[in-house]
Amino acid sequence: MLKNLLVILHALAAIGFFGLGLPLARMAKAALTRSGDARAALLEQGALSIRGMTGAGVFAAITAFATLVVGIQQGVPYGWPYHAASLLILVLLAVHVFGTARVWKGLSGDAPETALGKVSAFVGLSHLLWLALFLLMFAKYFGIGV
Ligand code: HEM
Repeated sequence: MLKNLLVILHALAAIGFFGLGLPLARMAKAALTRSGDARAALLEQGALSIRGMTGAGVFAAITAFATLVVGIQQGVPYGWPYHAASLLILVLLAVHVFGTARVWKGLSGDAPETALGKVSAFVGLSHLLWLALFLLMFAKYFGIGV
């Protein structure tokens, strides 16, 4: 029961992370075609989404590890996909915090065009890592890592 609840919270948080990141690159591009208050509002909106992603990502990781602990206590045999996922989520959070969140600030700096390219690259990379994690979650249904 507790484990099911944790898995639901865990999956919802992970989906929240993914969803909040979807419009970021477009938002950055739109911000650079505007000036003044309109640009500032879009950049602020993006920064809020990035903060939301950090919260959702950290919550997804906490609930993931809580699920692992409860699962292990119940005798669930977690194979290499979960070990890989434990490492990959830390890489994902690092890419998000030290990549996306940092370069987003560059959009308000002296070289916004350069920052725009970096935002797209980091958002793309974090979505790719997320997708790899997503596939790892379902590896067991294909007899992988069990
Ligand atoms: C960020 C991307 C992730 C997504 C989208 C995701 C999604 C999911 C989903 C949908 C489930 C339910 C799957 C099922 O059992 O049928 C699940 C279960 C689970 N996830 Fe994740 N997850 C992610 C990251 C992680 C990470 C990094 C870990 C850390 C090890 C993790 C650990 C677990 C565990 C332990 C379960 C329960 C599996 C079981 O006992 O049957 N997840 N996840």
